[in-house]
Amino acid sequence: MKVKEIINKLAETTCAEREELIFLLKNITPGERELLRAAAQSAARQSFGNKIYIRGLIELTNICKNDCYYCGIRRSNAKAVRYRLSREQILSCCKTGYSLGFRTFVLQGGEDGFYNDDLMCEIVREIKATYPECAVTLSLGERGEESFRRLKEAGADRYLLRHETADEAHYALLHPPEMSLKNRKESLFALKKLGYQTGAGFMVGSPGQTFETLAEDLMFLKELEPQMCGIGPFIPHCDTPFADKPAGGLELTLTLLSVIRLMHPKILLPSTTALGTISPRGREEGILHGANVVMPNLSPAEHRKDYSLYDNKICTGDEAAECIRCLSNRMKNIGYEIVTERGDYK
Ligand code: 5AD
Ligand code: FES
Repeated sequence: MKVKEIINKLAETTCAEREELIFLLKNITPGERELLRAAAQSAARQSFGNKIYIRGLIELTNICKNDCYYCGIRRSNAKAVRYRLSREQILSCCKTGYSLGFRTFVLQGGEDGFYNDDLMCEIVREIKATYPECAVTLSLGERGEESFRRLKEAGADRYLLRHETADEAHYALLHPPEMSLKNRKESLFALKKLGYQTGAGFMVGSPGQTFETLAEDLMFLKELEPQMCGIGPFIPHCDTPFADKPAGGLELTLTLLSVIRLMHPKILLPSTTALGTISPRGREEGILHGANVVMPNLSPAEHRKDYSLYDNKICTGDEAAECIRCLSNRMKNIGYEIVTERGDYK
């Protein structure tokens, strides 16, 4: 089968065999990339028009009990300047965000036991009581099914938990032995079962990744059918074991965004900050390749630079208001419009 035929098949049936996906990733030519891009953009246009949803990212804590080899806030990084936001600080971020038009708040953080179920449920309840029309998305790692259930009951709507890689051996190369792909997958299925709009995802170009493991990621997404998918390039962080590894490529990340869009026409697919970090027009290119979400930062300015998962992260010096203005212009310049609706999965 030729690459062109595989692209057509994806566009028509949203499915492909593992071998076809590997073949496409390995052999796609510049001309075929453009074909893929145009098909993915048109699929996104069909689902969302020229609307781009925004999510306000609030980085709760950079304290983490995990030690993922790629991540700048891993527990072994003694150089990280650690912080936690208080309940009041979090609510104040929501207040700023709400007045800027955000109707989704994403509470993201390391796996930090300080934010136990009682505290997190209280925070979620308070946000939902103050802003009943807003969605609350959590991105707090693997907390166990009972915790996921309580948080859902408190009012959380969505949960982001990237699977990082769907290949066992690759997962073991990126994570210390106490973490397992099995737990990660079980968490994702539990979240879906509990009724969360669930987000999976992975880094592109992480050490040890191959076209075969990427095809595995795509097959896993088909199996899980998440409502959201976060992908962005791997970017080395200078104080991690992967400091000297090369960053993931722009082109491959864009190709994967397009493939995911064709395989999941309705999926909520962010054009990530990491993509904007490896290339000045990365986020615009992400949208033009089928993404439909951007996630500006609402974290307090004084902690922005400490939530450093990778080097050279953009927007750490900007106020939320500046970012939203900047992004609105960037989207306008490519024919898209940022909207303030919640942007649930339909
Ligand atoms: N480069 C790019 N993305 C990273 N993440 C963590 N570390 C890095 C890095 N060095 C991503 C992971 C995680 C998400 C919050 O950030 O995929 O799930
Ligand atoms: Fe933050 Fe442009 S999006 S400055």
